[in-house]
Amino acid sequence: MAKKVISKCDFCGRAKEDVQMLISGQDAKICDACVEQAMQLLNEEGFVQHEKPNYKGEPNKNLKPLAIKAFLDDYVIGQDEAKKVIAVAVYNHYKRLYQKTTEDDVEIEKSNIIMVGQTGTGKTLIVKSIAKLLNVPFTIVDATVFTEAGYVGEDVESILTRLLQVCDYDINAAEKGIVFIDEIDKISRKGDNPSLTRDIKEGTQQSLLKLIEGTEVLVPPQGGRKHPEQKLLKVDTKNILFLCGGSFDGIDKIISKRLNTSVIGFKNKKGSEEVDKENLLNYITHQDVRAFGIIPELLGRLPVLVHLDPLDKNALTNILTQPKNALLKQYKKLFAIEGITLHFEAAAIDFIVDKALEYKLGARGLRSICEAIITDAMFELPSKTDVKEYTITEAYAKQKLSKSKLAKLKVA
Ligand SMILES: Nc1ncnc2c1ncn2[C@@H]1O[C@H](COP(=O)(O)OP(=O)(O)OP(=O)(O)O)[C@@H](O)[C@H]1O
Ligand SMILES: [Mg+2]
Repeated sequence: MAKKVISKCDFCGRAKEDVQMLISGQDAKICDACVEQAMQLLNEEGFVQHEKPNYKGEPNKNLKPLAIKAFLDDYVIGQDEAKKVIAVAVYNHYKRLYQKTTEDDVEIEKSNIIMVGQTGTGKTLIVKSIAKLLNVPFTIVDATVFTEAGYVGEDVESILTRLLQVCDYDINAAEKGIVFIDEIDKISRKGDNPSLTRDIKEGTQQSLLKLIEGTEVLVPPQGGRKHPEQKLLKVDTKNILFLCGGSFDGIDKIISKRLNTSVIGFKNKKGSEEVDKENLLNYITHQDVRAFGIIPELLGRLPVLVHLDPLDKNALTNILTQPKNALLKQYKKLFAIEGITLHFEAAAIDFIVDKALEYKLGARGLRSICEAIITDAMFELPSKTDVKEYTITEAYAKQKLSKSKLAKLKVA
């Protein structure tokens, strides 16, 4: 007669029916309760490494707005106003989170931000840099992946799924987090996104309203609609700070039109009435963003409007040489590992920046230009043991960066 196989935990003896899960090894089985107990033991003995950040601690009280801005200065060139506004917003966010209820009943409300600036001027960079500094959960999501519920794409709730994921599903921590919604202009009516109709774009904006303002949302922990069986988690977004950003291509025309028709004389920041045509974003108002096709209800929930300046020659040169991980510093480090000291002639740097400006490649183009110039050297020099020093001269840069190569960069 065949022997009846009894499935039980070999550590505590409990039968399969009495435990949630029984894991089989080569010669033994273990139940979930025993695994948990063993884990606890390891934890107590200090054998478990916690790599995930712990968001439960108080924020660093020394992080005053000035210090936050100084930190950003190490990574982001120029854009002083944007850095200032964001430093204050983050600081106030902390203050709100830890505000004590006082008798006056004054409750500090959150001030979500909308950032407008041409492509490649540092919007994402500012936000990514600030993320390094924070000890609240932080996530960057792209508005282009969302659509109104019922259409192909992700529901806006998945923003919260990502926030939960970065803090290991600690709902309390997630409810104090910061979310950056990038490319918000792509869901505006005039946004460059042909795959979405005007109705879907507006619908998506609508679906963001409640989330940004503050509401209780049921969030699928794994995201998406692929796991219908998952248990939903309730997240309150009242204290989550939202930053939105976009390049809003063409908004300068809207601003210029408004300025031209404006009856009242317009003063720029320096107090003169002359309009700085090179940087019309200086004059941006919520009205312009609305004319671009962000619905007024959404704009109302993003009360702080901040712009980024276009990058001029001086800014591009600084970007190339100054930030902590400036491009030229990176190349120098790559060569230093080979035992080679790399130099760049000032005229070569000038040449690189001029080409980025001439071909309108912006800060992003600096990398492709540098790659085109330095690739040959990176290919050949590691095999030459006698070379200890190498200088990229203007002539060398010009020779490596032929017109045809530049034309290709422009297309890319
Ligand atoms: N102000 C800046 N200071 C330093 N580096 C910059 C600055 N602006 C841009 N860069 C460089 O250019 C790259 C692209 O910038 P970023 O991703 O922030 O652009 P963006 O404004 O978000 O543009 P897009 O609208 O296309 O998303 C950065 O990774 C960085 O290397
Ligand atoms: Mg960006």
